[in-house]
Amino acid sequence: MTEHQTTHQAEEDARNEEILIWLNGRIVPKAEALISVYDSGFMLGDGVWEGLRLYDGTWAFVDEHLDRLFEAAKAIDLDIGLTREEVLQAILDTQSANEMTSDAHARLMVTRGIKTRPFQHPSLSRQGPTITIIMEHSRPKIARPIRLATVPHLRGLPMTQDPKLNSHSKLNCILACIAAEKAGADEALMLDVHGFVNTTNACNFFIVRKGAVWTSTGDYCMNGITRQKVIDLCRENDIPVFERNYSLVDTYGADEAFLTGTFGAQTTVSEIDGRPIGDGKAGPVTRRIQELYKNLIAKECA
Ligand SMILES: Cc1ncc(COP(=O)(O)O)c(C=O)c1O
Repeated sequence: MTEHQTTHQAEEDARNEEILIWLNGRIVPKAEALISVYDSGFMLGDGVWEGLRLYDGTWAFVDEHLDRLFEAAKAIDLDIGLTREEVLQAILDTQSANEMTSDAHARLMVTRGIKTRPFQHPSLSRQGPTITIIMEHSRPKIARPIRLATVPHLRGLPMTQDPKLNSHSKLNCILACIAAEKAGADEALMLDVHGFVNTTNACNFFIVRKGAVWTSTGDYCMNGITRQKVIDLCRENDIPVFERNYSLVDTYGADEAFLTGTFGAQTTVSEIDGRPIGDGKAGPVTRRIQELYKNLIAKECA
């Protein structure tokens, strides 16, 4: 078995030991960025978050990230307590404190804050929210294409815990990832409640068949910003793209498969449940989309 690989693998960077963290309005050294054991995020996974990337001095698609953050906070009835402008300013302040200009990744987290007692009821979260930004130097270093395994963990219906929410609690995805790893793969391919192929535990999922790009309907998966950008790029560049239901039979028979996410952009998939996909390298459609996305980032972050 070859060495394990994750979709969020980055080059080692010793500077990350010395980074400064934004924590509730203060910028503090990593070692001092500590949160109470009574925090709702720690105790219950009660919070929402965003992952953003810095390219050439600009946080890519920051409006979309802020829209999704504020929408998610509203959905879980959590008052961020800052305006969009103040959240953006916090990101920029953290960036400048860390003297970062490009190739950085930010994880912006908002929890319901510190509880008065160690129980679930949200009314016990009286000091909050807790807001923090971890910003790391980050250059993706994915040594080889990703292998996926399907797992028994499903993307649930929206009335349970809407899989669109970027919630702190990721246990369903984590269990899926553990199952995939135990099956010898890197990441989990998750089905929806009807058995159609949906997404992976940490990225959105696409296949290519006869030159056309397929992805799930968008129900049951994260409304990934990179996912939407890829769909838009296909539409603008006459690459046929379908948001549709499809099964594992369609997937095993695909010519190409790739993942999307803010961190890795588009990551090639070489194998699913032991079936090779393509020739183990990024295929022509994946490469074209990678190029189009690179150009889009260059335009966005000019
Ligand atoms: C489960 C899941 N799917 C997909 C994504 C990718 O979304 P985006 O392209 O907005 O980074 C994420 C990222 O947070 C995620 O957690």
